[in-house]
Amino acid sequence: MRIDLTEAANKLKNGEVVALPTETVYGLAASINHPAAVENIYQLKGRPSNNPLIIHTSTTSEIYPYLSKDYPDFNILAQNFWPGPMTLVLPIDPELISEKIRANLHTAAFRIPKQPLILSLLSQTGPLVMPSANLSGKPSSTRPEHIEDDFGAGFPLVDGGSCECGLESTILFNVDNTWVIIRQGALAAEDFEKVLGYIPQILANATEKPLCPGQLHKHYSPKAQLILTEESAKLQDCVIVGFDDTNYHPSCIIYPLGSKTNPKQIAENLYSVLRQLDEENVHLAYVDYEFPKNGSFATIAERLQRASLNDNR
Ligand code: TXA
Ligand code: MG
Repeated sequence: MRIDLTEAANKLKNGEVVALPTETVYGLAASINHPAAVENIYQLKGRPSNNPLIIHTSTTSEIYPYLSKDYPDFNILAQNFWPGPMTLVLPIDPELISEKIRANLHTAAFRIPKQPLILSLLSQTGPLVMPSANLSGKPSSTRPEHIEDDFGAGFPLVDGGSCECGLESTILFNVDNTWVIIRQGALAAEDFEKVLGYIPQILANATEKPLCPGQLHKHYSPKAQLILTEESAKLQDCVIVGFDDTNYHPSCIIYPLGSKTNPKQIAENLYSVLRQLDEENVHLAYVDYEFPKNGSFATIAERLQRASLNDNR
């Protein structure tokens, strides 16, 4: 059910959960002041309770009061990348943020999104927790229809059209005074160099104890089995997730991600294409994995890797 910003603000203030557009992906929002609504988010998504939520605000002044210490680079990162697709995990005073939101950690994740609808809403509602608006484990939602598919046509949602980035925010964490990337996202590691003076190391791959708890869980996965290949030109009689400007054998059915030279377009289409495979009951698809893996392509490659993991499905 499409609702306008006034109705969304009223519902959030009344402790309801609504789906909202951001420039990265759609989020399922609840006010941080309504514990039952926060709990409801975990239930709706089927999200493990050890996976904390990102707190979204419209200003940095709403973040400062929660922090237990200063980081010299916090201001410079905030000034350069907020509002925008960057999330910072920061040490907080645990008394001030409920255990549920931070999954018992003594840190919390913060982001100021730049999509104009959500930014204006946040200035009316105050801080909102907002995980991606998808059933846990599935690809995130980048279009209103994806939310209707996951949560039903009656679910309250603000329609912001197709999300500009199509990939989640990049999450940074500070280890021994150096920022590292604990979830790759819409901003590439290289994008931070001009501001930090170094390219933050990517520590986003699942280990037994990842710095970003969400990395432990199955993620971004369609039901279809995906096989990544750099030899898709040789394939025949199969489904290929591929590119507009590549020639494949005419017997193959192509699900196009966009042009191989346009990572922005590929990112915007990625989750839609993964979801489309399931809608059309595709059981097995090859993914043309022959593209650069650096810069803006790095997150796309990582998401495809994870989507193709064949764990306990
Ligand atoms: O682009 C985005 O970040 C979207 C939009 C809606 O803002 N949100 C999003 O939220 O992707 P979610 O919940 O799907 O992913 C948040 C990730 C999870 O992997 C979680 O483990 C991690 O952030 N996270 C949250 N708090 C954390 C913390 N204190 N320390 C480490 N990781 C944290
Ligand atoms: Mg998510």
